[in-house]
Amino acid sequence: MAKRVTAPKGTFDVLPADQPTRRWVVQRAEDIFMRYGYRRIDTPAFEETGLFARGVGEATDIVRKEMYTFEDLSGRSMTLRPEGTASVARAYVEHGMHTLPQPVKLYYHCPMFRYESPQSGRYRQHHQLGVEAIGSPAPELDAEVIGVLSALYNELGLDNSELRLNSMGCTQCRPGYSERLREFLASRSSSLCGECRERTVVNPLRVYDCKVESCSRVLSDAPRLTEALCPDCETHHATVVACLAMQGIEYVPDHTLVRGLDYYTRTTFEFVSPDLGAQSGMGGGGRYDDLVQTIGGPPVPGVGFGTGVERILLALERSDGSEAPVRRLTVYLVALTDAAREKAFALAHQLRARRVDADLDYAGRSGKGQMTQADRSGARFAFIIGEQELADRCVTVRELDSGTERVLPDAEALGLATKVSAGQAPDLS
Ligand code: HAM
Repeated sequence: MAKRVTAPKGTFDVLPADQPTRRWVVQRAEDIFMRYGYRRIDTPAFEETGLFARGVGEATDIVRKEMYTFEDLSGRSMTLRPEGTASVARAYVEHGMHTLPQPVKLYYHCPMFRYESPQSGRYRQHHQLGVEAIGSPAPELDAEVIGVLSALYNELGLDNSELRLNSMGCTQCRPGYSERLREFLASRSSSLCGECRERTVVNPLRVYDCKVESCSRVLSDAPRLTEALCPDCETHHATVVACLAMQGIEYVPDHTLVRGLDYYTRTTFEFVSPDLGAQSGMGGGGRYDDLVQTIGGPPVPGVGFGTGVERILLALERSDGSEAPVRRLTVYLVALTDAAREKAFALAHQLRARRVDADLDYAGRSGKGQMTQADRSGARFAFIIGEQELADRCVTVRELDSGTERVLPDAEALGLATKVSAGQAPDLS
């Protein structure tokens, strides 16, 4: 037998049974994003590698170890999108969106690709729902962006997540701090892991990404960026905090929250969920005032977030979050004779033409087998067609939850199914 092919490690199929909850999460999110004035953007699944190398940062784990990079047939280096912000910023520049009224508010829902070691909540292909508001330095916008994500989690019933907040400073205050941190880390390099010794040289702030215990211990005595912020960054942060309070959003300050991507300036934030175990980050983001310029655009500030759809689904599964409404089939047609099969097929067609969800047997099941299938399908009604019904141009309509039955002329049965499908209560009296 030929070797069986399976999905690549760290990827998964989304089977029909998993679709309703996923669709529902995405629809809730899109509804909220639009409520806050964001409009959808789709960018290619792959970009020139340089976009992520420059945008996300050469010193980040994403660029150093996690990108799916390949050469195309003309020898150009391409990379499957590991995150959405750099691509959206590229599209903003490419389409001259700085000439539109600012800020330009965009959202996306798409797969991201990162070569990470797979575990629960961590995949090599995951999906993000994200927003990017590009073109305004206002701290109120940072608070709004956090408000969007908070509203999403609340509407999904995931209100037990904790918001962590930090400020990463700006080009005024961060270089001085980085230098002090570098000196501090260099003086303790014997206690750092090999990678962090390298990070100390390339970008000392990236040491905060390290999970090695001894590196965390060193960092606990390190100078803090929050204590080195310039007055503008301090004022910005104070306004963000005030606007979070206005929205009733609580947060925990976390001076270690540097968030694995080099483009952040000022605000960074992350929602962590107690239901997610080791991969506790449900969604996060921050401000990136230098990114657009870094990738060759005008000096335009931005702020946004990304939240993992799979992490949301995991948190919903493990908590008593809201449940997706399930779309039930309205009618399952049951044909008791061969002649009745033709009529069942014709009625199914008429029901679907009236936008009623309907299905029928194609496996040659007996009448009893079709009734079992009708129950299994979760349909509201079975339309049963036997010899008598065929002769009388009727169907026996059985409400499957209650077992109530009534014989109705074809046209009335179609009318009943159409009304129920449109949300009206069934009347079989
Ligand atoms: P990120 O924190 O790298 O940020 O990813 C955002 C979210 O995507 C995470 O909080 C997590 O829920 C999910 N996620 C990330 N990696 C994986 C994975 N391997 N498996 C499953 N889920 C994952 C960004 O990507 C930034 N672009 C967010 C942003 C937008 N910042 C500003 N604007």
